Amino acid sequence: MSGVTDLALRRIAMEFGASYVVSEMVASDEFVRGHEETRLRAEGNGVSPHVVQLAGCEAGWLADAARLAEQSGADVVDLNMGCPAKKVTGGWAGSALMRDPDHAARLVEAVVAATARPVTVKMRLGWDDASQNAPLLAHRAVEAGATVITVHGRTRQQFYKGRADWAAIDAVRQALPATPLVANGDIADAADARRCLALSGADAVMVGRAALGRPWLPGMIAAELRSGKPAAEPSLDVKLAATLRHYEGLLSMMGHDAGLRHARKHLAAAIEDAARHGGGLALGYKAAICTATAAAEVRRLLAEAFKTTGPASLAA
Ligand SMILES: Cc1cc2nc3c(=O)[nH]c(=O)nc-3n(C[C@H](O)[C@H](O)[C@H](O)COP(=O)(O)O)c2cc1C
Repeated sequence: MSGVTDLALRRIAMEFGASYVVSEMVASDEFVRGHEETRLRAEGNGVSPHVVQLAGCEAGWLADAARLAEQSGADVVDLNMGCPAKKVTGGWAGSALMRDPDHAARLVEAVVAATARPVTVKMRLGWDDASQNAPLLAHRAVEAGATVITVHGRTRQQFYKGRADWAAIDAVRQALPATPLVANGDIADAADARRCLALSGADAVMVGRAALGRPWLPGMIAAELRSGKPAAEPSLDVKLAATLRHYEGLLSMMGHDAGLRHARKHLAAAIEDAARHGGGLALGYKAAICTATAAAEVRRLLAEAFKTTGPASLAA
């Protein structure tokens, strides 16, 4: 997820048991040109498998980017055919590729030819309700060499509105019974994951927004699916330690100012989670944490927020 699944977050999600994490979308031309921020997005040190998601609409850039990703240690190259943002679809990348399956298939072919790594594709149900062509596009992608298909159960025109239609993903399952299929959209707990798997016929689920501020969530869902028993929430101490680890990771990767700015949405979400699971008092710290301009002040406020939230201080 763009702006979310930075390397520090991916590492932590894996430590908590996520089986698979994917980089932020990496613009293929910027990556090849050596744009520093884009290079950081594609880093995967300490994450295995390391999956780099490429975005673009030109075979040459995508192929070069796939080569570079492989050279930089990627184990899997994923192609973005689902991003709805106007900035991306306006350049005919992301979900705009669903409108031109011939071109999309040529892009998959070019990337498959450029890298020895497995190439996977993420898409939506289609561009709009009238053109839910995910089964066709998935079929073309697999013919062109893609090995795994992920489908977000919304159309591009829905952006993030309404509910993800898990049953509609089953049309892709029917079209490609033997291809590993991942279903995505609105999965926030193990019950959602079970329902989604049953309705979509998918082999796995992918968790996005629900894991913001909760990098332990995919691991918890995986544990619950495996054991059939509810997985325990990590303690507030464990969550605070993970949040601080993420924060320190961002500071060291991006530098003080950019790291601090980038961290804010994650810290705000972690505070909201702490408040949900220990009482509402942490919320009082959110504004101060998100406006502080010194790393040490943020650390101090975070620790205080999580302690204030704890059951002992609530009882006092
Ligand atoms: C802020 C944000 C950034 C996203 N960036 C990407 C991205 O870079 N690549 C991608 O394939 N999907 C991206 N997505 C879409 C999610 O991966 C996912 O498909 C969508 O949010 C639905 O799943 P969810 O309900 O679990 O979040 C993004 C979504 C959001 C909200």
